[in-house]
Amino acid sequence: MTAVHMLVIINFQAAASEPCAGCHAQQAAMHAATNHARTLRKATTTEFARAIPDTGIAEARNGFTIHYRAAGEALRVQADKAEGVIEWVIGAGEQGLTPLVSRNGEWLEHRFSFYTKPGRFDLTLGHSPGRSRNGQAALGIVQPPRTINACFSCHSTHTNTKVEEPGVTCQRCHPADGKHFARPVKNQVERCAECHRLEGPNDKLAIRFQPLRLVKSQCYSKGQIQCGHCHEPHTNAVRNNPDYYRAKCAECHASAHAREAQDCLPCHMPKSSPAPYLEFTDHRIR
Ligand code: HEC
Ligand code: HEC
Ligand code: HEC
Ligand code: HEC
Ligand code: HEC
Ligand code: HEC
Ligand code: HEC
Repeated sequence: MTAVHMLVIINFQAAASEPCAGCHAQQAAMHAATNHARTLRKATTTEFARAIPDTGIAEARNGFTIHYRAAGEALRVQADKAEGVIEWVIGAGEQGLTPLVSRNGEWLEHRFSFYTKPGRFDLTLGHSPGRSRNGQAALGIVQPPRTINACFSCHSTHTNTKVEEPGVTCQRCHPADGKHFARPVKNQVERCAECHRLEGPNDKLAIRFQPLRLVKSQCYSKGQIQCGHCHEPHTNAVRNNPDYYRAKCAECHASAHAREAQDCLPCHMPKSSPAPYLEFTDHRIR
């Protein structure tokens, strides 16, 4: 990454929290380092762009090769005679990054994503393997505006593609209440579920939707546990820290078993991988 790109990222984050940072410096500094702040970014500032090999990315079975070149902060992308522009890449890079391609007034979900844990490009979840039927299909799947607007609603502070503040910023969680930007009042699980979702598939992919799983737990139905019991909303999830979570459980569970075990999570909140390269924590505590 060049020094210029570095500056761009910093400026975005400063701009996103500017109206609040002057008075809430602590929350602003913490939030700027989160995946919420980074979940939508200009293409060339991302791990996706940095990892592209000079030879492009080739489909399996002698399919098309997709070529990319930088154009400002965007990438021009081409497969056979089809060309498009990638302005935005979705994903903070914690697990995966998926570009959106714009082409002739339409939006495509790009065929390839970059998966950061294995450090490799592979098909975007839901795309079929093998040779595409033509160049445009090799660039991705055309999605209706409704679907594309939904990507931006969960990955930015806006409800459509006209993005001024990329990422999930202060105002997305603290809408103006006329006087000031209030603390979220509704049941917090429901607020977080606007994006993390209370509804979803009833299969192994459901593990991606932490609110959906958490509300099935007695800790929620009998204990009213909230996301904020374990996650400070202005930071990332605390990872690989059994002591941190044991202390959280102990706030409500005083039994000997609940005090003494070393790591509560492998038995009560196990991790699993519902799709290649992606790993989630089961929030149905049982
Ligand atoms: C001019 C200074 C100023 C600015 C700018 C400002 N705030 Fe505040 N904010 C305050 C003060 C003062 C309080 C009250 C602190 C207290 O109650 O302890 C407060 C309280 C809050 C609270 C807690 C409210 C509650 O219900 O407890 C939230 C949330 C908040 N601000 C969010 C924001 C957000 C988001 C922005 C930017 C969009 C912002 N503020 C901009 C000064 C400011
Ligand atoms: C506007 C949509 C939106 C809202 C509202 C939202 N989130 Fe998120 N959250 C996301 C997205 C998108 C990601 C994935 C970021 C990425 O990796 O690209 C994420 C990631 C996270 C992570 C993982 C960060 C890490 O460690 O990698 C946690 C924890 C989290 N959110 C908690 C919360 C909590 C708690 C709330 C409610 C207070 C909340 N979120 C509200 C969209 C949202
Ligand atoms: C209802 C809200 C919502 C919508 C709509 C949505 N996402 Fe997400 N997305 C999330 C949340 C929340 C996460 C974080 C998942 C997690 O880590 O638990 C996420 C994660 C991701 C990731 C990171 C890899 C991963 O799977 O964790 C990518 C890439 C992504 N989304 C792309 C997209 C694209 C492309 C679209 C539109 C086609 C889209 N998302 C629509 C909420 C949403
Ligand atoms: C993912 C959603 C989310 C985002 C993004 C977010 N907040 Fe918050 N914020 C919350 C929640 C939830 C609380 C309530 C925490 C609690 O009650 O324990 C909160 C509380 C606060 C408070 C009250 C004091 C405190 O820390 O509890 C202030 C001030 C605040 N936020 C400012 C900000 C500012 C400034 C930004 C942007 C830099 C921001 N928030 C971004 C969800 C968010
Ligand atoms: C806000 C309080 C609260 C927190 C925090 C909490 N729980 Fe609970 N949990 C409860 C309540 C209330 C019940 C209902 C049973 C009871 O009253 O003991 C429960 C039930 C359970 C059960 C029995 C579930 C069943 O289906 O039989 C397990 C296991 C459990 N919790 C584990 C955990 C673990 C592990 C943690 C930490 C990761 C945790 N809890 C955090 C309140 C909480
Ligand atoms: C009882 C504690 C607890 C509560 C409550 C909780 N989480 Fe988590 N969360 C965790 C743990 C533990 C992890 C995994 C940390 C690690 O990777 O080591 C995690 C990870 C996550 C992640 C990263 C992706 C994943 O699945 O590993 C997201 C996103 C997340 N939580 C969102 C939420 C949301 C939204 C809520 C409220 C609906 C919530 N969490 C409530 C304990 C909790
Ligand atoms: C080796 C796996 C394992 C570990 C580690 C573990 N548990 Fe459990 N836990 C169980 C099993 C199995 C049950 C159900 C059988 C029983 O009641 O002993 C249970 C039951 C519970 C219950 C409901 C019954 C009760 O004793 O109140 C709670 C609450 C609980 N565990 C909390 C915790 C907490 C908190 C931790 C971490 C300090 C933890 N557990 C660590 C396996 C484990």
